[in-house]
Amino acid sequence: MRLPKPRGGLSEWLVAHLAAPVAGEVAPQADCWEDACLSLWTLHELSYRGFEDADDRAEWAPSVLTVRHDLETALEERLRSRWLASTQPAPDVPTDVPGALEALVAADDGPSLADHVRRRADGEQVLELLRQRSIYHLKESDPSAWVVPRLPVRAKAALMELQYDEYGDGDPNRLHSHLFARGMEAVGLRPEYGAYVDDALPETLEMNNAGSLFGLHRRLRGAAMGHLAAFEMTSSLPSRKMVQGLDRLGLAGPMAAYYDEHVEADAIHEHLAARDICGTLAEDEPDQAADILFGAFTCLDGESRFASALLAAWGAES
Ligand SMILES: [Fe+2]
Ligand SMILES: [Fe+2]
Repeated sequence: MRLPKPRGGLSEWLVAHLAAPVAGEVAPQADCWEDACLSLWTLHELSYRGFEDADDRAEWAPSVLTVRHDLETALEERLRSRWLASTQPAPDVPTDVPGALEALVAADDGPSLADHVRRRADGEQVLELLRQRSIYHLKESDPSAWVVPRLPVRAKAALMELQYDEYGDGDPNRLHSHLFARGMEAVGLRPEYGAYVDDALPETLEMNNAGSLFGLHRRLRGAAMGHLAAFEMTSSLPSRKMVQGLDRLGLAGPMAAYYDEHVEADAIHEHLAARDICGTLAEDEPDQAADILFGAFTCLDGESRFASALLAAWGAES
């Protein structure tokens, strides 16, 4: 993957600086939200697969870490303020975390892109959705993998059970990210990691940044696992709708197979994530309970903002 096209002063500075970091250089402020989203996404990618045209040492360069710290602080404040605004007067600290996760998911009334795909989307819209989704699905489960060493015994074992499945049960051809790449190829899109980042909506980048932020900070392990749980709990049914929509548009084949895999897998993963990961984590580390719900809310809220933005761009009712 190559460094993305800048979208403002900060991302422009970063693209130049990451190619050849200069000690002591000070970054400018982001011009706008989109510039900040792309900049943080770029910085996080240094910890995943990196860029062909960036210096690998930039990941830990102090000048770069300072920028990452400032962007992450602003992102976390924004996400927490959305969470607090949604739970006025103040969020409860749940005693039954799996039950609270179920209630949160049940109350989610965000627009459904999968519904749109099943019933009305045209082929171009589906390809646009897949390009946006590729930013995450081509590194599916990687943000959760950061969290493994930070969990107590029961949650760690359950997360590994889930991750083993996501990573193909030992078969490289079954890796979910690889299944998605094969699906991209089959529908005529580029399967390479990060190929469509220049087309990514800021909402797409922000959703990815939230997952990376939670995954990269031990302090946010509860939020990371809550985020994972909400993702898994809202995947099985929409995946079935995606299969139906892809079928309707004559795009059955490897892309439909990717979603089909998730109909059954995520029906199991949602219980693993809610009960065996988040439930036991909250029992073993009660101070994580509130952040588990914060992470779950952030996942649902990010998806809802993304879906609204895309449906609005298409002039489609949610
Ligand atoms: Fe998956
Ligand atoms: Fe899953």
